[in-house]
Order: sequence, then C-alpha cells, then structure tokens
Amino acid sequence: MRILELQCRYMLKAERSTESDMGKYNFDTYYDRRNTSCLKWDFGLERKNRDDLLPLWVADMDFKLPEEILSDIEERVRHGIFGYTDPKEDYKAALRNWLQRRHGIEIEDEWNTVVPGVVYGIATAIRALTEPGDHVLIQQPVYYPFLEMIEINNRKAVNNQLVYKNRCYSIDFEDFEKKIVNNDVKLFLLCSPHNPVGRVWTGQELERLAEICYRHGVYVFSDEIHFDFVYKRHEHISFAGLDDKYKERLILGTSASKTFNIAGLQVANIIIPNKDVRERFRRENEAAGYSQSNILGLVATKSVYEKGDQWLDELIEYLEGNVSYIREFLKEKLPEIKLVEPEGTYLVWLDFSGVTRDKNELKDIVLEKAKLWLDPGSIFGKETALFERINIACPRSTLELAMNRLYEAIKNS
Ligand SMILES: Cc1ncc(COP(=O)(O)O)c(C=O)c1O
Repeated sequence: MRILELQCRYMLKAERSTESDMGKYNFDTYYDRRNTSCLKWDFGLERKNRDDLLPLWVADMDFKLPEEILSDIEERVRHGIFGYTDPKEDYKAALRNWLQRRHGIEIEDEWNTVVPGVVYGIATAIRALTEPGDHVLIQQPVYYPFLEMIEINNRKAVNNQLVYKNRCYSIDFEDFEKKIVNNDVKLFLLCSPHNPVGRVWTGQELERLAEICYRHGVYVFSDEIHFDFVYKRHEHISFAGLDDKYKERLILGTSASKTFNIAGLQVANIIIPNKDVRERFRRENEAAGYSQSNILGLVATKSVYEKGDQWLDELIEYLEGNVSYIREFLKEKLPEIKLVEPEGTYLVWLDFSGVTRDKNELKDIVLEKAKLWLDPGSIFGKETALFERINIACPRSTLELAMNRLYEAIKNS
C-alpha cells in the first residue's frame, strides 16, 4: 500500500514539467574543463601518465549549472568572508521539501547530519555500527569504495553477487539471506539505484531486502546518491519510504552532488531516523574531527533544491537521449558489445564478452586503441572483468566521438 502511494506521487511528478516548459536549458554545449583542477580531465597525466585520453570515467558531469543557481553561489562568494557555518532553517526546509516533492518521503530535520560526502558517511557508519572483524554485506558488481571502506576499516566484506542473465541484473535473495546468517552480518551497504549496473530496484525487491535485514537485525546503509536519475517507466522507491519499522536500522545516504554536479563542494546529507543509531553515527563523526560544513556546498545545495527541478527534468531527458544514441549505435555498428539497459543513473554498463574473452586485450582496445578512459569492470568486482562502465553525462558530441573511436578500435583490432 505504502509503495502504491509512492508510485502515485511519481506519476504526478512526471506531469510537473509540461511540454511547453521544456527546452530552456542547453546540454549540447561543450565546456573545456582542462586546467580547472578537474579530476576527470586534468589527472590523466598523473594517474595514467598520458594526456591523450577522452575521459568518461569518474561520475561527474560535463554540464554547467544554470545562471539562477550560479548567481546564488556568486552572491555568497562576493560577500567575501567564508568563516565557519552550520545548516540553517532555510537549508533544512529546502532538503525536506526536495525529499518530499521528488521522492515522497517525509523526514524530520533532526534526523539529518551534514558530512563531506556519502562515502565519508559509509565509512563513519561502518565504524559506528560494527566492530573490527565484523562482516558487512555488499552486492557486486558495485561502486568500488564500498569494498574499500569495509577493508580499510578492518571489517570483512561478504558478497551477495548480483545475478546477470539476458543483459539484466537481479538479486539472489536466498543467497542474500544465507550470507547474512552464515557470517553474522551486521551491516548491509545497498546501492539504490545501483552503480554500475543501472538497476532501479522495485518496491517489491526493496521490501524483500528490508524484511530479511529486519528479521536478522542487520543495519542498512541505503546509498541513494543516484536517486534523482531515473528513466521513464521506472520509479525510485526510497528505503525511507518503506514500512516505518525498517527505519529503526536505516542510514540513508543522499546528496545533491551527483544530481547537480557539485561533488567538489563536499556536502552530503546522512539521514538517520533512529535516535540511538544517529547518536552512534554522530559520535564517530566527532571522533573523526569533523564538525562544520562547507558554506558554498550548503548554499549550492539549498539553491539547487529550491530552483533546480526544471533543469533536472530536462537533463534526464537529455541523458535518455544519450542512452538511445548508444543503444542505436551498438545495434547498428557494434552488436558484439551488449548494453545493459540502464533504468537510472548516468553510468552505462557495457558487456564486451562478445568482443574478447581476454581482459588485457579489452584494456588494449579501450585504452590504447580507442584512447578512452572508462572504468574497467574489474574494479567493481571479481566477475566483471569483461565489462566497462561509461559515463554518459556529457554533450552528445563527446559521446559520438567516444563511440566512433571505439568502433574504429574494434574494427581495426
Ligand atoms: C553509489 C555512489 N555512492 C557515493 C558516491 C560518491 O559520493 P561522495 O562524493 O558524496 O562521497 C558515488 C560516486 O560516484 C557513487 O556512485
């Protein structure tokens, strides 16, 4: 019932931006990001020892924010004094309203803790809610810092491998529960929507995961950083929108950083409804020496949450166009590469097993011949060395260049 209610909200949301509103923003413009200390474009030399690669790897976007948001940030910059800060009522209201308006969830202000990033939130939750040597569950292939944060904090990772069949990913629930019981798992790191496989988990799937975790007393860190990028015919259901009883052990990780490309401003909202869990999280946060947040990050987050709806709606349409472009290109010219159809996120997961069975040859094709800097499947888990993750949050012309380079590289190899 609760899930149906949420789905109705989404249908209303879909009607919000009418046809005549659309087309205000231009995502085709290419901006040169080189020499801006930008990880994606400027660190090729440092990280790969070369400067000839087209970078479609790290998850940030090559799009610029609209003027109405830039001017809010600029106004604050012009004030010229950047002392310590804390989120005020207007920030809290903007966050609360965004979560209510776009995701149908109600939060209380005091549930939120502002931290510098969602990964920081994951690491803090691991230390707060588990002991060294405890087991933490993940579902590979998954965003690689999940595993890194578990291991660097001296916990043990347990993997419930996602099942890949007919170009789709699903969850093996029996294995999920077995892994929890056999390893006395304390915490589950959920990626929702899922990076890199692009699944937007259904309400039924989330209910099943939630119910199993609840029955076995497992905390759930639901990383919903990609929750604003959901394509037609799919709905993101927040873990916080499930039955109230699941909130007892929930840590919800959110941020405007992916949605509005403000990762460099270092603000994430970690929402913890249960007081005891929240206090444990905050103690660990204090132990790391973190207290006040980034003033420009707060200003930007408030501004995008108040003024960014239409920009985002148009961006999602543009990204869907990019997905269609890749789909058609592969169908016509490179049918040996299989697209795992994304339901959400701007990260597209490509299966190269029809091109080669050798991961070194794949690297040679992508990096040396096509001169593309993608994220290789091997970093997301053991079984996905023949996959590549491509970031499609760029102008269509950049994507065309990338796909044509890939085509030439494969045809000439
Ligand atoms: C699933 C997921 N979580 C977290 C992050 C990073 O979040 P932050 O920069 O807030 O630590 C990313 C970035 O790609 C991501 O894909």
